[in-house]
Amino acid sequence: MEEPNAIIDQVAEQVSERMSGQQAGHGVDHVLRVLKTAREIQAQVGGDRFVVELAAWLHDVGDAKFHDGVERSAEFAREILRDLDVGNDIIEHVSHIVDNLSFRKGSAAKELSLEGKIVQDADRLDALGAIGIVRTIEFGATRGQPFYVSEANDGSTDSSKAGTGKTGIGHFHEKLFKLRDLLNTEPAKHIAAEREQFMRAFLDQFLRECGEE
Ligand code: ADP
Ligand code: NI
Repeated sequence: MEEPNAIIDQVAEQVSERMSGQQAGHGVDHVLRVLKTAREIQAQVGGDRFVVELAAWLHDVGDAKFHDGVERSAEFAREILRDLDVGNDIIEHVSHIVDNLSFRKGSAAKELSLEGKIVQDADRLDALGAIGIVRTIEFGATRGQPFYVSEANDGSTDSSKAGTGKTGIGHFHEKLFKLRDLLNTEPAKHIAAEREQFMRAFLDQFLRECGEE
């Protein structure tokens, strides 16, 4: 087999090409952050670093948002790896991870290997913290969804959840603050706690500035 680093370089090139032009919150920059975090977790919990890196690079390569609502990442992962000098067992392992890591799979997702759990944690962590705030706002902006709607405008009576309809703040409560309990590895839970604390502080300040404590 070719040198692992040379293979990763070729995968990186292919993924960057296929994902070029995708918006900031969900393009190669997201992949690079997932890769960085996945490496940090792997260094602490073990697992096959080569598989972790390949899966991190490939996990969103055929994201449904950019392919008419059809998730094609696992298919593209196989396609890319088949053209490289990578063994069949690794191709199957990586595409199984890519196919089963997404939040959207829910209960249909199959049990992930340690390497899969690492990349899944790294992907979920990218929805938290300062980056998570920015990505939520970016996502909302592409869909004309406001980050916040004042209590006076949304008919809500619970001020602690002001503006939690279809808003960015709503997304914090409905999804992002639940992610911490879904993480697989201890290092990821540790990082998540810090990132969630930052988001809660941001929300407190935001609502205070809006006069809705
Ligand atoms: P990934 O595929 O990387 O796991 P998603 O495609 O689910 O992530 O989401 C990309 C980003 O957009 C995340 O930061 C997520 O929190 C944000 N996002 C997803 N759905 C919504 C929503 N309904 N409102 C606001 N932000 C959202
Ligand atoms: Ni992702």
